[in-house]
Amino acid sequence: MKRALVMVLGLAICGLFALAADAPAELKFDSKMGAVTFPHKTHVDKGVKCSACHHTTKDGETPQKCEACHDKAAAKDKAPKLSDAVHNSCWGCHDKALAAGQKSGPVKKDCKVCHVKA
Ligand code: HEC
Ligand code: HEC
Ligand code: HEC
Ligand code: HEC
Repeated sequence: MKRALVMVLGLAICGLFALAADAPAELKFDSKMGAVTFPHKTHVDKGVKCSACHHTTKDGETPQKCEACHDKAAAKDKAPKLSDAVHNSCWGCHDKALAAGQKSGPVKKDCKVCHVKA
């Protein structure tokens, strides 16, 4: 029992280090609407769990690109197409936070807050 607990803690700690090393600081998405800068690290620092966005990856494992399952052109095998999946993830969470009276990032109607044309 005790040993199992130590194992679990050990794994959790290794996991944390692996995560810190893996998580990118900032990501850019190009799009016709204008490029989107995504402050990845800000989210991690605010305590958003990896798995809240990387929904098919257990915390501690290296996530796959969304595009591995979400096709750019169309929904496939129940997975919505890439831009829908990413949008629903981003504004899904922000809209919910706003509705709950919490601070949030840009919501659905804030197209131009996220998409900035050069
Ligand atoms: C929270 C930030 C955010 C908001 C708000 C947002 N978008 Fe996006 N949008 C993104 C991201 C990130 C992508 C890139 C997804 C991908 O890789 O396809 C994207 C992709 C797109 C694309 C696909 C572009 C392409 O070149 O294939 C379109 C079109 C688009 N957004 C339109 C909109 C419109 C219209 C709104 C407002 C109703 C909006 N977006 C609001 C973040 C946002
Ligand atoms: C708020 C949402 C969100 C959170 C929280 C989040 N990520 Fe991400 N992460 C993304 C998105 C979106 C991408 C872009 C995926 C893509 O390009 O397909 C990404 C990309 C990555 C990449 C790949 C970078 C690359 O260019 O290939 C890694 C590695 C990663 N995240 C690790 C993590 C880890 C580890 C955590 C937790 C410590 C985490 N992420 C938390 C949304 C998030
Ligand atoms: C291993 C495959 C896989 C990867 C990688 C993946 N997804 Fe998904 N995703 C799916 C499948 C399958 C569904 C539909 C079934 C479900 O809801 O689980 C889905 C559903 C979703 C949904 C809910 C559907 C909706 O329109 O509300 C969102 C949001 C989403 N994915 C966002 C993302 C984002 C953002 C990433 C990358 C950070 C990502 N997914 C990576 C397979 C994947
Ligand atoms: C699971 C929840 C969640 C998801 C998913 C999520 N965010 Fe956020 N976002 C947050 C929180 C929490 C904050 C911080 C609000 C605050 O405290 O100011 C935030 C803040 C932001 C900010 C403002 C950062 C700043 O420095 O003020 C931007 C821009 C942003 N998010 C973009 C995105 C984009 C783009 C995506 C999708 C790729 C995304 N977010 C997905 C929860 C989320």
